[in-house]
Amino acid sequence: MTRIAAIIGGGVIGGGWAARFLLMGWDVQVFDPDPEAKRKIDEVLANARRSLPGLSDVALPDEGQLSYHDNVPDAIRGACWIQESVPERLPLKHKVYQSLQEHCEGDAIIGSSTSGFKPSELQEGAMRPAQIVVTHPFNPVYLLPLIELVPSDQNSPELIDKAKEILTGIGMYPLHVRAEIDAHIADRFLEAVWREALWLIKDGVATTEEIDNAIRYGFGLRWAQMGLFETYRIAGGEAGMRHFIEQFGPCLSWPWTKLTDVPDLTDDLIDQIASQSDDQSGQHTIRDLERIRDNNLVTILRGLKAQDYGAGTLLKAQDAHMNILAQGIDDIAEFTELVTTVQRAVPLDWTDYNGHMNEARYLQAFGDATDQLMHIIGCDADYIASGGSYFTAETHIRHIDEVHAGTKIKVETQVLSGEGKKLHLFHRMMEGDRLIATGEHMLIHVSLETRKASLPDARVSIPLAKLAAAHADLPLPEGAGAAVGVR
Ligand SMILES: NC(=O)c1ccc[n+]([C@@H]2O[C@H](COP(=O)([O-])OP(=O)(O)OC[C@H]3O[C@@H](n4cnc5c(N)ncnc54)[C@H](O)[C@@H]3O)[C@@H](O)[C@H]2O)c1
Repeated sequence: MTRIAAIIGGGVIGGGWAARFLLMGWDVQVFDPDPEAKRKIDEVLANARRSLPGLSDVALPDEGQLSYHDNVPDAIRGACWIQESVPERLPLKHKVYQSLQEHCEGDAIIGSSTSGFKPSELQEGAMRPAQIVVTHPFNPVYLLPLIELVPSDQNSPELIDKAKEILTGIGMYPLHVRAEIDAHIADRFLEAVWREALWLIKDGVATTEEIDNAIRYGFGLRWAQMGLFETYRIAGGEAGMRHFIEQFGPCLSWPWTKLTDVPDLTDDLIDQIASQSDDQSGQHTIRDLERIRDNNLVTILRGLKAQDYGAGTLLKAQDAHMNILAQGIDDIAEFTELVTTVQRAVPLDWTDYNGHMNEARYLQAFGDATDQLMHIIGCDADYIASGGSYFTAETHIRHIDEVHAGTKIKVETQVLSGEGKKLHLFHRMMEGDRLIATGEHMLIHVSLETRKASLPDARVSIPLAKLAAAHADLPLPEGAGAAVGVR
């Protein structure tokens, strides 16, 4: 499959799609008649480059090629995925599909970002309705994994499967919406919450800031990790969901909410909301707010990843799929060069108040490099479960240059010696040819039963001896054995 995506409409959402495809290794071809489109996409891309690669603990594929085109046929040439993100007007979308279908490959998928239209509405009057499907993303598209994949009965199971495969491949979670309805699933909730919020402001009950606090200090945090039903199951106590419904079900018949009444969006109400929003957030530019949002999202997502829960589970699965370093090693004696033990981007939550990678994270990256080296010499999860492991006894890190969020780093490792109980390693952290830091570590093999030094058994000592022999002819790295303060 050619990995070319065409982005038709490169605004807020199209720009996010472009960034995600590009950073996941696809070539991206953009068509947007707005002369400002390139500038806008470049800004989205800059945000994406500092946040998306570091969500992952392994290297993303190399970035694809980005090109801009001033006509549809050029933009869709060779594309197997065409993402339409033009403004939410049905006649415009129909016009766009007509010009796309006059020129695109018959087996390309045309995904629409529409927030509200049903796929059957989009397909009306199309040359090949079966080619068009709803793929509704969430802003920022380069960080949030959810895609509502909404087919109509015109779309084949093969197209749905192929769409799922492609979306999963770029790190997204395609939620197959089995029945087409206006606004799919998620926007139905958002509209209900938005409607209530408008009433609360109109009735003078709460300001925009108080409403946001009511969400972000409480139930919004619960929703982010468990959603609605799992949260309410807990709220029912040991008796669970059934008890929860018995307890709170009757409230539904009380007039707690305004149900589907919609407040009139009068000029006064709009002024009130806009000025409250200025008071709340006017000190930040939109670009600042985007960066704050991305920092927070990355921190939450990486926290969930550590817990292997919710969206964090998706990230872990994606890493396992992309981890080229975990591929099998045929013959350890072939490692006559330095061993690549880490390949990743610096995550946003590894940076500090100075705007660069925090010193503790240098140790984390070197610790990960040591773990990978241990894995290579057979000190893997099975070996550790059988009672042997290495403990780090001594570390010397030299912080040579700074790195920023999103920078691709690589750690190369040299075994300085591996005799007896000792494992002496030297790591070099690089960005391309630039040396960022070195880490020298002495590890001691221990018995996890006695917690005392012990000799590794043959499962580790033999591969380690081979690797140490393969590295024996490498020159001693600059800085090895240096004392603190000696450069
Ligand atoms: N903004 C959101 O939060 C959000 C979230 C999910 C889905 N969506 C959906 O995404 C779509 C786009 O929304 P947006 O917020 O990115 O809008 P936007 O106004 O930011 O971007 C639309 C872009 O389409 C371009 N465009 C207009 N006519 C075009 C044409 N004929 N061919 C190619 N490009 C054309 C415009 O120049 C503009 O850059 C809508 O269907 C919307 O419902 C929006």
